[in-house]
Amino acid sequence: MISQTLRDARKYEEINEKKIRQEERPDFHLSTRVGWMNDPNGFSYYDGKYHLFYQYNPYESRWGSMHWGHAVSTDLLHWEYCPAALAPDEAYDKDGCFSGSAETLEDGRQLLMYTGVQKKTLPDGSVREEQTQCVAVGDGTDYVKYEKNPVITSDMLPQGCSKYDFRDPKIWKEADGTFYCVVGNRPQDGSGQILLFVSKDGFDWKFKSVLAENRNRYGKMWECPDFFKLDDKWVLFTSPQDMLPKDLEYHNGYGTLCLIGAFDEKSGMFTEHANQSIDYGIDFYAPQTILTPDGRRVMIGWMQNWDTCSIRGQEEPWFGQMSLARELEIKNGRLYQKPVRELERMRCNRVSYSDVPLNGFLTLDGICGRRIDLEIVLRPKQGEELLRQFEIRFAQDERFYTSFSFKTYESVLKIDRKFSGSTRTIVHQRRSLLKWAKDELKFRLILDRYSAEIFVNDGEQVLTVTMYTDQSADGIKFFADGTVNMDVTKYDLCMQAEGSDWK
Ligand code: FRU
Repeated sequence: MISQTLRDARKYEEINEKKIRQEERPDFHLSTRVGWMNDPNGFSYYDGKYHLFYQYNPYESRWGSMHWGHAVSTDLLHWEYCPAALAPDEAYDKDGCFSGSAETLEDGRQLLMYTGVQKKTLPDGSVREEQTQCVAVGDGTDYVKYEKNPVITSDMLPQGCSKYDFRDPKIWKEADGTFYCVVGNRPQDGSGQILLFVSKDGFDWKFKSVLAENRNRYGKMWECPDFFKLDDKWVLFTSPQDMLPKDLEYHNGYGTLCLIGAFDEKSGMFTEHANQSIDYGIDFYAPQTILTPDGRRVMIGWMQNWDTCSIRGQEEPWFGQMSLARELEIKNGRLYQKPVRELERMRCNRVSYSDVPLNGFLTLDGICGRRIDLEIVLRPKQGEELLRQFEIRFAQDERFYTSFSFKTYESVLKIDRKFSGSTRTIVHQRRSLLKWAKDELKFRLILDRYSAEIFVNDGEQVLTVTMYTDQSADGIKFFADGTVNMDVTKYDLCMQAEGSDWK
């Protein structure tokens, strides 16, 4: 029942993962088992475990033949690989099993919904990739593609909708058992739109509405949508291609967009009230969310950006990692994110300082490491001894470091990996604007070998960046232009922390 293509991939990953030592990967961020990883797919809670699938090319450390990789976890931090779940082995998906999602069927089986890609030669001789939506059913390990695939084709769409840019179904089930899914699409104006579909059983789908239209405001094509209710609002996530910058809110290229608004279930129309970036760093794209059994809305994104993939050489045995799982909340009309609370169970070796005066450069005994949870509270004084700039340098040795800074007079945050050891001509810096009350500033920095995620003021903004600096560079240095008093608490993040119930 399992195709030769999938059997080959499973055999290949089992043999080749042995060539990668655990010390060469992140610990609690999921990285690809071998080869290449992009978007999170099928993020779900099924049969007592979190499941995370991903866009996967096992054979090379670059994008190619798209399979679905698979891993499970009980705490969203300790991940265990499962055999690859999908391979491009049918006529309708022979050129790739693209992104999609998962839901539980009425009979208890798990449904995967994904985009099947098939190259077609047009009458003028050009080749285009036709995209349709397909499903597969399984038990949490093995999945069988539905014999009537594809389940959604371009024939079901209103006039003008593209059949070449039509991808990334995100499925969910309402309390009454009805299935819905949102899919990214391109209308005639060449920008993006999100389509909504409905189904009684997850197999038989009908077009419901154009949920939201880009009208060329935020980039062009909208990829990887997600749509959910959060704190009495409806939230639409999407990852636009070809964005233009807007102040310090949106940057050029591949970005992330969070639209907060209302949803009219009858008409299937979404009304936007507010918009913002989801992440303000460099490496974050195509996030997907789930509702956990205890009612939290949790998001994981691909911790990478299509335009900066060359940060790591293709000769490396793996490329691609996921972000930390983050709990979401809407507060003051904005999206807030914080690391899943399970992370606190991994904390060990606490080192803490309070009310340290900072003026110029400073290092503190015991404050170092590359797998750490570091909390900083700054209390800038007003008046004469004004704090003009705060900076923290991490993953640091004599030559290299990555830096995060805040200029108080401009209210600008900056992440900068220019001196991290990268030898590529890519974006290394990004800035964002912080609205702050001018009394207290809080930063929480999570490092996991090759990445940094900085949660600002309890998650009002997050800046995510990857850096491939040698692991021996584990220093941390603080800097203030002006004067500020700071509290610092550092924990190492230990996979087997004392008292942790993870086995
Ligand atoms: C987004 C994306 C998706 C597509 C997948 C292909 O990163 O382009 O739209 O399904 O990657 O790997």
